[in-house]
Amino acid sequence: MIIVKFGGSVICNKEEPFSFNEKIVEMLVDEIAQFYPEKKFIIVHGGGSFGHPLAKKYEIRKGLGEKNIIGVCETHQAMLELNKKIVQKFLEKNLPAFPIPPSSIFIIEKGSIVDGWIKGIEEMLNRSFIPILFGDVAIAKDKGIDILSGDQIITYLANKLNADKVIFLMDVDGIYDRNPKEKGAKLIEKIDGKIKIQWEKKKFDVTGGIKNKIEEALKMPCKVYFINGTKKGNLTKAIKGEKVGTVKI
Ligand code: ADP
Ligand code: IPE
Repeated sequence: MIIVKFGGSVICNKEEPFSFNEKIVEMLVDEIAQFYPEKKFIIVHGGGSFGHPLAKKYEIRKGLGEKNIIGVCETHQAMLELNKKIVQKFLEKNLPAFPIPPSSIFIIEKGSIVDGWIKGIEEMLNRSFIPILFGDVAIAKDKGIDILSGDQIITYLANKLNADKVIFLMDVDGIYDRNPKEKGAKLIEKIDGKIKIQWEKKKFDVTGGIKNKIEEALKMPCKVYFINGTKKGNLTKAIKGEKVGTVKI
């Protein structure tokens, strides 16, 4: 089973609220269709410009307060909206994508999953569905409510369901030694626990960006690819195990 993260930076233009990169999602779904049903997939998508701006506006990372309970619902609703757009693209290509809202099956603490009910996901996979999860709001033991990143969900699922491979789709070619926008930034081909990079925290990001992604990848029990999901053919290469982007072995 392969878990693919449709990063918010790929499916949306993060600078523009509620933007959806329809053509890129269509391209990615086409590539997945080449391998279905021989390979099993779980898709986890990010919040992009649907989740992050609302999570920020309603200060959801500070927890459930007196004033943000409606904001929690609105943030979840925005994620359902984005999820619907993505699921629709799979259905149009005849792929049985089935949404699983993470806020219904996970409890978190300090931003990580401490309790989850994933039997349904397993049984969906056994029946050839493609479960689609997403970064979401979630019940938090410490703060009442918090944001659960898609990247944390992947760590949990990769460990519990013994994923063969995880593929992170991003809007840059992989992990660089520093912010890829900086002059002289070099793409790193392989990463391990000793990796030290520099990054820039984006102002609209509530879940820790590339730093969180790398920290999570290092906890995963399988090969992890970081690739540019906006370039045609990259996802195919990663699924086949060919050289592309950055790999954590
Ligand atoms: P996503 O939204 O796809 O889940 P993030 O926005 O969290 O991904 O992380 C990808 C972004 O991180 C890229 O747009 C890139 O500009 C930025 N970034 C900052 N530092 C680095 C780095 N050292 N290597 C790769 N990307 C980096
Ligand atoms: C964030 O999920 C979810 C919300 C803000 C509601 P992610 O952390 O997985 O999102 P991206 O990939 O950075 O957009």
